Amino acid sequence: MYVNIPRELPKYDPGQSYDWNYDHAPKATPTEIVPPMPGALAGGWRFCGLSVASPLGIAAGPLLNGRWLLYYAGLGFDVLTYKTVRSVARPCYPLPNLQPVDCSAVNGAGVAGQVDEHVDSLPAADEMRGTWAVSFGMPSKSPEVWRADVAETRRRLPRDKVLSVSVVGTIQDGWSLDELADDYAQCTRWAVEAGADAVETNFSCPNVNTCDGQLYQQPSDAAVVAERVRHAIDDVPLVVKIGCVADDEEAARLVAALGPWVSGLAMTNSVSTTVRGGDGLPLFGGAKRGICGQAIREASLRQVECFARLRNRQGLAFSIVGCGGAATAEDVRRYLDAGADAVHMATAAMVDPTVAVRIRAAPQPASVAET
Ligand SMILES: Cc1cc2nc3c(=O)[nH]c(=O)nc-3n(C[C@H](O)[C@H](O)[C@H](O)COP(=O)(O)O)c2cc1C
Repeated sequence: MYVNIPRELPKYDPGQSYDWNYDHAPKATPTEIVPPMPGALAGGWRFCGLSVASPLGIAAGPLLNGRWLLYYAGLGFDVLTYKTVRSVARPCYPLPNLQPVDCSAVNGAGVAGQVDEHVDSLPAADEMRGTWAVSFGMPSKSPEVWRADVAETRRRLPRDKVLSVSVVGTIQDGWSLDELADDYAQCTRWAVEAGADAVETNFSCPNVNTCDGQLYQQPSDAAVVAERVRHAIDDVPLVVKIGCVADDEEAARLVAALGPWVSGLAMTNSVSTTVRGGDGLPLFGGAKRGICGQAIREASLRQVECFARLRNRQGLAFSIVGCGGAATAEDVRRYLDAGADAVHMATAAMVDPTVAVRIRAAPQPASVAET
């Protein structure tokens, strides 16, 4: 299929701050360049029970606000995840927020059976070659700002596209798990009242050290929060975003704990490591950051496969959102074959905003074209 793909489209500028990029969102999208999904991949897709035109979505991160969201909706993505918001305003970490790293594959300490020599520390790279360390600290505009923006975005987004809002609880000193669960529930309720078609609760952020960032590692606590959120939004699709899971038994516990409450699980957020500069000294004060992009693809694929197996074994029906390093039609196919129901991208879409157009225009392998 011939598609005239523009050479240069607006994209996130990693040299500028989060606030600068928030304020400099693209104003318009050239929708006419988006081809339909080809052949056997066309039509019939569902995202957590909602009907969509393709399995392609944007993960929580690139869509800082409604203008960014509408831009990518016009570039061939059908599920658009609004970057994680909170019940209170929170500033972004200082630059660099996106530090390229040198690394071909990182498995995560926890991927069963894998030895990972790089997992403790990765060298920073001068330029982006597909993988970077992400350091935002889950900033958020105030609820007044994001609730109004989500409402306006839903009004402007074509009806057949899904607007999912990512939320995270904000733990305060001395808070109990119950209070954290209420904070998650409050944010999800606000998101749904503003018009979100689905909500994603982030149970994994490698850049923050408090328990709101690591809920997925404590299945019973995760279940308390997921149940509270489920009751807050009735039957609105609820996705829980998780990080790298250590082993199959831990994965089985998490599936059993979350399965009754969720419509979907999104994985994986990233793989967490420290990063060192050219002088060998640690960046980010020696704290871990989430590695995103190409280098986490194989680990995420294996995790999707593992969770799909566990879901089936436990007789559960939630959707799986594959996320991590997807950048080509072949990557999308591999995620779907591994058991994902949808494939979401952050890094590849930021580096090349036309990535979904290219995936849609890619020739299908014979086995797919013939089905
Ligand atoms: C710039 C950027 C910001 C991100 N912000 C969030 C966030 O706010 N919430 C979240 O759950 N994940 C966030 N992530 C993680 C992505 O959703 C995704 O899980 C991760 O980047 C792996 O996908 P990728 O390899 O396609 O980038 C962010 C990633 C990037 C690159």
